[in-house]
Parts: sequence; structure tokens; C-alpha cells
Amino acid sequence: MKILETTKAFQAWRVKLNAKAAYLGVTGGTSVGIVPTMGALHEGHRSLLKRARIENDFVVLTLFVNPTQFNQASDLEKYPKTLEADVRLAEATGVDAVFIPRDSEEMYPDTYRYQVSEKEFSKELCGASRPGHFEGMLTVVLKLLNLAGADRAYFGEKDFQQLTLIRGMAEAFFLPTAIVGCPTVREEDGLAMSSRNLRLTPAERKIAPLLHAALTGASDLNQARIKIENAGFKIDYLEDRRSKDGELRRFVAAYLGEVRLIDNVVVGVRV
Ligand code: PAJ
Repeated sequence: MKILETTKAFQAWRVKLNAKAAYLGVTGGTSVGIVPTMGALHEGHRSLLKRARIENDFVVLTLFVNPTQFNQASDLEKYPKTLEADVRLAEATGVDAVFIPRDSEEMYPDTYRYQVSEKEFSKELCGASRPGHFEGMLTVVLKLLNLAGADRAYFGEKDFQQLTLIRGMAEAFFLPTAIVGCPTVREEDGLAMSSRNLRLTPAERKIAPLLHAALTGASDLNQARIKIENAGFKIDYLEDRRSKDGELRRFVAAYLGEVRLIDNVVVGVRV
């Protein structure tokens, strides 16, 4: 498994794959799948890697705690870092290359002068309470997809708003990469796996699954709100949204102590 620490090394790796395919006479080149992450990998990330492994000749994982998508310095500082374990997990999952930019200048040689923005959905839900978050996220994802020249990029439904915005960006900018959405992986008690779960105290960890239970077990939004608040969460938002294809999804962000958890589930389909 190759470890790539600079954008130049990443691009050189990508060019070499094409050259290899041409040498071997493989028509259509080799397919590449990219899984962008911020590290502290868990089974949710691994499900994306496994899917990418099945669908592509080469899989590249990226590990970069992107500073431009954190709107609170303390959240960035406290972001869990488990680099050695992440590299081991990647190796065990059959990843071909891991891109770990050695510093943020690697990704932002322009000092973040150029940014991707979206005017509507990025201002709602998580965007309303985290100004600048989705601009930072979209910008880094565009950079990573360009570097990888990937055929497919894998993202989790756990961050459904993020997935929707990335799909929109790919369509708007005619990106050649297919965006693949993957189902949310949960702990046995229903809690959506997240790197932020590591920051919950043991007492908070026991309460945390009630967020998902309230999303799936309430008859309406009001009942869900009561259940979530009674469990001890402070709600940031709780809203239902209908997608273009008629699917009704319930979105929540709520604080448990200092940790902000998000989740979403399908609550109905238009027939
Ligand atoms: P991160 O939170 O590390 O997540 C990386 C990818 O893993 C995202 O696509 C996310 O939706 C997916 N993921 C996380 N938890 C999951 C779970 N329980 N089940 C399924 N998929 C899950 O999301 C980011 O990083 C960043 O915003 C990034 C896209 C890398 C840009 O910096």
C-alpha cells in the first residue's frame, strides 16, 4: 500500500496507473474509487472502502482533517486522531493508496482564496448553525476528486445533506466522477457510527442511541422532539424534508453535553 503525502505524489501515482494500463493493453484504462475521510476510521468508513474495493481496480483512501470546514477552533482541535490504526485498517481492507496531506498548505496553496459555494440547501439544516462548513467541505472534496481522477467516489448517507450537496456539485460542474451513496452503519443499539462518538462520556454513550430511537419510533415531529429533549439532548434542528423522488427524510442535529450528533432516517415515501 502506497502512502502519499503530497499532491504531486498523488497525481504522479494516478498518472502511473494509466501508463500501467496502457502497457498491459487494458482498454478503457483502470478504474479508481476514492473514499474521502477525516480519519478516526470506524466500520462506517470501512463499509465505504469495502464497496469501493468491489467496484474498482484501485482504491484510494484520503485522510485529511480539513480545517476549512470547521467553524469552531475547539471542534478542530478535539477531532480524534488515530493515524496508525487508520493506516492498518486501510491495509487490511485492501486499499491501494492512502493520501495523507502532510499539512494544510498542500491542499490550499491558494490559501483558500478559491472556494466552492452553494446558495440554497447549504444554508439550511447543518449549514444554518455551521456557517462556512459546506463551502469548506465542497471545496476540499472538489480538490480531492480532481487529484484522484476517480471513476467513483463514495460517501455515507449518515451525512445526507453533505451527500446531496456533493451530488449537486458533481452535476453542476460536469464532474466525470460518479457519486455513490452508501447506507448508514450503526452500532447494535442504533447509534450511527461517528468519529465524534469517541468524545462521549460513558454516561452520554448510554443516552446517545435514544436519538435514533426517537427518529424511528415517534409518530410525528412533535413527539420526536419531546423524546429527544426528555433524553437530555439540546436540539439544534429537527426537520422533515422531501426529496425530488418523493422520499420523506427526518433530519436531526442535537448536542449531548459538548458533542454534536447528527442522524437522519427515511420516514415515508410518496406513493
Ligand atoms: P468523515 O466524517 O470522516 O466521513 C467520511 C465519510 O464516511 C463520509 O462520506 C461519511 O458520510 C461516511 N460515514 C461516516 N460515518 C458513517 C456511518 N456511520 N455509516 C456510513 N458512512 C459513514 O464527511 C467527512 O469526513 C468530510 O466532510 C469529508 C467528506 C471527508 C470532506 O472533508
